[in-house]
Amino acid sequence: MGTAKRQPWVVGVSGASGTPYAASVIRALLAAGEAVDLIVSRAARLTILDETGISFRDAHWRTDLAAWLGTDEGLDDVRYWPAGDFAAGPSSGSYPAKGMLVVPATTGAVAGIALGLSKDLLQRVASVTLKERRPLVVCVRETPLNGVTLKHLVELDAQGAVVLPASPGFYAGGSTVRELVDFVAGRVLDAVGVPHSLYLRWEGELGAAARRNGSGDAAPAEGE
Ligand SMILES: Cc1cc2nc3c(=O)[nH]c(=O)nc-3n(C[C@H](O)[C@H](O)[C@H](O)COP(=O)(O)O)c2cc1C
Repeated sequence: MGTAKRQPWVVGVSGASGTPYAASVIRALLAAGEAVDLIVSRAARLTILDETGISFRDAHWRTDLAAWLGTDEGLDDVRYWPAGDFAAGPSSGSYPAKGMLVVPATTGAVAGIALGLSKDLLQRVASVTLKERRPLVVCVRETPLNGVTLKHLVELDAQGAVVLPASPGFYAGGSTVRELVDFVAGRVLDAVGVPHSLYLRWEGELGAAARRNGSGDAAPAEGE
């Protein structure tokens, strides 16, 4: 991909549980031929360490990202920006980003973006994305939600962001953790129109999910 025409999606990984969602989104963007600009918040280093055992390091991001994704395929299309680097390309609206996907999003990131705090590069780029009227998807991961977060999510929606909870659907017939993770990642890509084959779409047929899971015959007999 030539530098002059490079128009990346910015993927912001904040420190919520659910780092597999981010890995799936990044893999699928690269598989679709999209360029990725990656930002990993300081707190996300803790969740990546907790959930994968990988210490994500700025100086060795490529090696660490390959270990996290389980592949180094497509990594030439990834650019990494440290979370404290406010001079990074995507911190300006003139940088040719297509939009931003915050996956997973903490309640802290939700608050910071809704209030325009720009406390780190992730939040700054989200603010820039909103002011430039580019697509912003916020894949929030917390449960239950308190009233403050709910208000912040409504504010994000009002500003034009897509609030997309990390909430897998079971109608696609997913039964493994990987399939449920890919369902959420697929919905993130759907929100910005990037093609993928991460999950099987609803086709208007009740019972399809049970059949895909091999449990189509397992419905209890009447009276059981
Ligand atoms: C292992 C671990 C899991 C966490 N999971 C969540 C979570 O699911 N949702 C959330 O909002 N915060 C979660 N947190 C707390 C955030 O990391 C913390 O609020 C942090 O300040 C968020 O910063 P960031 O938005 O800059 O990444 C978790 C923290 C740790 C260490």
